[in-house]
Amino acid sequence: MLKILTTVPLIFGYPIHIWLGIILGILLTIQIIAGLMTVKGHTQYFKIHRVVWILIAIIALIHMYYGLGLWFFHFTIK
Ligand code: HEM
Ligand code: HEM
Repeated sequence: MLKILTTVPLIFGYPIHIWLGIILGILLTIQIIAGLMTVKGHTQYFKIHRVVWILIAIIALIHMYYGLGLWFFHFTIK
């Protein structure tokens, strides 16, 4: 049971938190662009800004869990 929580799954040969980190980078870029567009007066982009920050928050928590688990809490990769 605990093994599931402390095992980092491999996706296409790489640990899942690496992929999540790449996704976070893309989402962060979208977030900043959507914020800038909103400030420039294209307020329809604020909808994106509001949805994407929630995605970033959730994915960053999972990313952090596996990433820190590997370095500090003896998680294994499988
Ligand atoms: C928007 C926020 C974030 C982005 C874009 C991001 C991006 C990335 C990327 C691309 C990687 C893979 C590259 C590598 O392994 O060197 C990575 C790994 C990692 N990240 Fe993040 N990250 C974010 C937030 C966080 C947070 C909040 C934490 C925890 C405090 C964190 C902790 C780690 C750890 C521990 C690794 C693993 C490094 C390894 O296994 O070698 N990240 N991150
Ligand atoms: C790390 C990047 C960013 C994050 C995580 C972020 C997050 C947020 C959050 C959580 C809100 C409130 C959303 C809501 O009310 O539901 C917000 C609002 C907003 N953000 Fe960002 N933001 C980021 C970058 C930017 C940038 C680069 C700009 C523009 C230069 C920007 C412009 C705005 C504007 C104009 C609002 C609306 C403020 C208002 O309520 O009047 N954001 N952002």
